[in-house]
Amino acid sequence: MTADPIAAHLSGLLGPGAVLTAPADQARYLSDWRDRHRGLARCVVMPKSTPEVAAVLQYCNEAGIAVFPQGGNTSVCGGSVPSEDGRGIVLSLERMNRVRDVNARNNSMVVEAGCVLATVQEAARFAGRYFPLSLGAEGSCQIGGNLATNAGGTSVVRYGNTRDLVLGLEAVLPDGRIWNGLRTLRKDNSGYDLKNLFIGSEGTLGVITAAALKLFPLAPTTLTALFALDDVEQAIALGEKLQKQFPGELVALEMMSRSELEIVLRHIPGSHCPLGEKGRWQLLVELSSSALLPALTEQLNTCVEGALAEGIVLDAVVASSEQQREKLWHLRHSVTEANKREGMGLTHDIAVPVYQIPAFIREAGAMLARDCPGVEVVIVGHIGDGNLHYIGMVSHEAWRGIENKPGYQLRLAHALYDIAIGMGGTFSAEHGIGSLHLAEMRQYKDPVELGLMQQLKQLLDPKGIMNPGRVLPAQS
Ligand code: FAD
Ligand code: LAC
Ligand code: ZN
Repeated sequence: MTADPIAAHLSGLLGPGAVLTAPADQARYLSDWRDRHRGLARCVVMPKSTPEVAAVLQYCNEAGIAVFPQGGNTSVCGGSVPSEDGRGIVLSLERMNRVRDVNARNNSMVVEAGCVLATVQEAARFAGRYFPLSLGAEGSCQIGGNLATNAGGTSVVRYGNTRDLVLGLEAVLPDGRIWNGLRTLRKDNSGYDLKNLFIGSEGTLGVITAAALKLFPLAPTTLTALFALDDVEQAIALGEKLQKQFPGELVALEMMSRSELEIVLRHIPGSHCPLGEKGRWQLLVELSSSALLPALTEQLNTCVEGALAEGIVLDAVVASSEQQREKLWHLRHSVTEANKREGMGLTHDIAVPVYQIPAFIREAGAMLARDCPGVEVVIVGHIGDGNLHYIGMVSHEAWRGIENKPGYQLRLAHALYDIAIGMGGTFSAEHGIGSLHLAEMRQYKDPVELGLMQQLKQLLDPKGIMNPGRVLPAQS
């Protein structure tokens, strides 16, 4: 029996095995995937059902105990670990991992929040359908975490962000009430669209326990190509050209700098770039279509030949087997893992209008060269969405030598955000706010917008138990 009375009470509510108190058992829930953020908790609770989540929240609300919901713990902005004071609990959704229903005729599925994204994709495929959300962390992030952060990923160009893939939601409110909004309709204008309030709220308004998701037909033909280019203006021009030529087929448009590619090749065993050392930029493109393979291949080849003849691209390769396709995607999806091994990646998740990407890269590069000597520029981006992960890479050794690390990080970040925002952009495109971007919320958000968010938080969570210290800065 645990000595902590709160953990003991929760254990009584959820039964044996559902509450972890030993430090060794809790450890993996207390630091994030990149080991950048650490916290402490009284205990980790792992409910198995929506009524169990409701019982936990009702109790915590009455007792004023902070609740930190956690999915796959892959947040890159300090959203998934508890605060350092150790007074709250982690609520892990990992045991709520049932696929409740797949309805191929209705192109919909209902899944619990703790389903790993790859499992959701697989369950859809098993029913002859396609669930398009895809990102490097898909083997460990959970659909609840994707919903809570409105994750983007690599197929936004065609299918939108997570928000666009949702038909309905089930959530538990901070006081323990269960909202069942699991409708699977394409049209429902019966009042405010509450699901969109919870999507992207990063666990600050309640716990998402299940979702009704949109499915799509499984396209018989998928083509993946990698282009090498020297000029970022031309990468954008090629993207525009592909969007015009393949309006219904273009699924992904991902760009990587040579510096990023080299980090991947250095650290990820078995990685290989079929275009060798060509190009300062690599553009990964994916098309999917109901057309037959020869027809789509011919169209894409014509496009590749045109781009080569015009001198837009230096070289290109079209994957000719599923294995080759997977290898190309493996390069792209390994960037975060490789960066983690390379050094201290000061990652920024900015977005600007797509046509401003070259100007952003120019201005940011000049600023970095001037103000941050020794920092290498590494870029990977969902360029079809105007979203760049602009990374200042500092070797582990150099990072140890930097005094006042938080100050250094903040100055660099704000210099980049000022450039992005000056171009009509944002400081947080797809990763969310977590605990990392509270200063930016205060500095860059419209005060009326921020005030409304705070009022909504007060309305739904008057005791402030849900993910305190995340998303909304403390009110002065
Ligand atoms: P967690 O990290 O556990 O939690 C994230 C936030 O959601 C926290 O605030 C948490 O409290 C809250 N939360 C989690 N579950 C629930 C729930 N059920 N109810 C309420 N709140 C909840 N992000 C992108 O957008 N695009 C990418 O391409 C991308 N690629 C990535 C690649 C790698 C290798 C890694 C490590 C991360 C990547 N990310 C990306 C960031 C991250 O994976 C996503 O934000 C993901 O959606 C988080 O899911 P998770 O289950 O790990 O959530
Ligand atoms: C990616 C993550 C870092 O795009 O968002 O790889
Ligand atoms: Zn990304």
